[in-house]
Amino acid sequence: MDAHLTVVDHPLIKHKLTLMRRSTASTQKFRSLLREVAHLLTYEITRDLELTTEEIETPLETMDAPVLAGKKLCFVSILRAGNGLLEGMIQLMPSARVGHIGMYRDPDTLEAVEYYCKMPDDLGGRLVIVVDPMLATGNSAIASIEHLKKIGATNIRFLCLLASPEGVAAMKQAHPDVPVWTAALDERLDDHGYIRPGLGDAGDRMYGTK
Ligand code: URA
Repeated sequence: MDAHLTVVDHPLIKHKLTLMRRSTASTQKFRSLLREVAHLLTYEITRDLELTTEEIETPLETMDAPVLAGKKLCFVSILRAGNGLLEGMIQLMPSARVGHIGMYRDPDTLEAVEYYCKMPDDLGGRLVIVVDPMLATGNSAIASIEHLKKIGATNIRFLCLLASPEGVAAMKQAHPDVPVWTAALDERLDDHGYIRPGLGDAGDRMYGTK
């Protein structure tokens, strides 16, 4: 098994992803399924978080109860499609810090161009989870993570819904220290940078744009 890549293997995720792939899924349906899958993916990507204990009072007695250790996590959404996954993640971990990074793909070169960035200023010592539903060429993810490393992030994971083999390979080459979690690894990338069979443009499907 490739330790760099985790394809989260769960029947509920597979089923919901199939519903999302269908071209007939409405914007509303797509969005709510994305939120549900984000819950399940967040559950998996946080499985190894460290715990400590706190003394608490139950109605009956005192106990040492487990709580998450260390600094709050930081979720970083790559705009705009990252926000769909982000919403579900925040529902599960409401006290996480949140950063946004705006990247668009130059339609000719498919290279990532940054147009916006707003981050919490203390990324060092936090687990940073970068999210974008589609790991296609990998260019946006790679550029975002380069930026995050420059401003102090040292412990980074990447979470997506669908990945292409090409995107996973590019990420591994650029950032071998950043493990990737995905709900599915699709067959290939087409000449326009779309994941096949895929689900189309995740941002358009989520927001009802074309
Ligand atoms: N971005 C998308 O939204 N879909 C793809 O297939 C590739 C990149």
